[in-house]
Amino acid sequence: MVGAESMVAERLERLTDYPFARLRALLDGIQPPQDRDPISMSVGEPQDPCPDFVAGILDEHRADWNRYPPVGGTPAHNQACLGWLRRRFGAVADGLTPDQVLPLSGTREGMFLAAQALVPERKAGRQPAVCLPNPYYAGYEGSAVMSGAEPVYLDCRAETGFLPDLDALDPSLLARTALFFLCSPTNPQGVILPRDYLVRLIGLARRHGFVLAVDECYVEIYGDRKPIGALEAADGDLTSLLLFQSLSKRSNAAGLRAGFVVGDRALIEPQRRLRSYSAACMPLPIQAVAAALWDDDAHVAGVRDRYRQRFDAACASLAPHLPYQRAEAGFFLWLDVGDGVETAASLWREAGIRVLPGAFLSKAGPDGRSVGDRYVRIAVVHDPATIAEAMGRAAPILARSREKAAADLSTISNNEARRERAGGL
Ligand SMILES: Cc1ncc(COP(=O)(O)O)c(C=O)c1O
Repeated sequence: MVGAESMVAERLERLTDYPFARLRALLDGIQPPQDRDPISMSVGEPQDPCPDFVAGILDEHRADWNRYPPVGGTPAHNQACLGWLRRRFGAVADGLTPDQVLPLSGTREGMFLAAQALVPERKAGRQPAVCLPNPYYAGYEGSAVMSGAEPVYLDCRAETGFLPDLDALDPSLLARTALFFLCSPTNPQGVILPRDYLVRLIGLARRHGFVLAVDECYVEIYGDRKPIGALEAADGDLTSLLLFQSLSKRSNAAGLRAGFVVGDRALIEPQRRLRSYSAACMPLPIQAVAAALWDDDAHVAGVRDRYRQRFDAACASLAPHLPYQRAEAGFFLWLDVGDGVETAASLWREAGIRVLPGAFLSKAGPDGRSVGDRYVRIAVVHDPATIAEAMGRAAPILARSREKAAADLSTISNNEARRERAGGL
């Protein structure tokens, strides 16, 4: 009898456990306080409804549920995507055509299949690499590992503006890179990328022959400054580029499973081919809804305003306790608390607040340490009153964690100084 393990792809075993499975393992044995309602701030899921007009459109298109949808999208869907690109990023989108767009049942599946279609078996005579930012969205790792590539996790530290350090990329790595995932604005830190950075990375992609996949999932969720799109940095020329756009956060429609990819025709065609064999193509009624959502910017202004109010509430509660530089985009607080895992456990135990340790979003190095170890990620998605209540409970615990980390650090450096002095005697 052949063992069941031989029926499972070995690649699957290489995936890091999903962040929320790790969170459950950390918190399941811990009892939160009984006298207060628990508040979950771990999942980046919109808590507001998607626009009301969605119901009417679904109803109008109910006769289409019996039809198989076209892989490449309906003309109305793809035109709506292009229309939004023009309104959002300007005239640089004028040269794009509907055949450069593919509808996706959520960008996660789109990114996954893009990697399966576009990562060759060998690059520069070796196993190809797929680069991803660290911390990272789990979907990037899944795409990379299951394509047979080596995932290369590029640390994003405060010192490099929470971006992969392009100066540190080895020429031999660049030569075998097949695909490079970038999240713009960054997730979870909410940094708006400088134009120069995008321009430089686009140049590297073209020079070294890799696909630059820019995930712009949070490009519509921002505070005072509108994030630049990769389309603008590329001046409308999508050579070597794929841009992934999602309705999940923009339109509070995570359950709709709707997004699209737009890019270089030479990269879209292989995806179209693979998708005809494998994709859960977006049903026609959903394409109609997605088109209407891309056509409408008014509801998005409302979504943005509500996140602003939520950040205001979170910042007001945090300010008396700890310094916090407000994220420019997205809806997460990414807080340096010294020890993210310990802090997440304390927040749950003492305050009934569920947050995600940064370590669960980050790949650890051979020393077992990761760039996310010091952080917790807090989703600012609830109404302002709930956020004020949650952060009111959490802030003293967060401040205590930071102070403890600072004290530990000063003990370590005092000990080191003492050892040095002793060694010098
Ligand atoms: C950074 C990032 N990219 C992509 C996605 C996938 O979005 P969707 O598949 O809902 O379009 C998510 C979802 O949480 C995300 O956080």
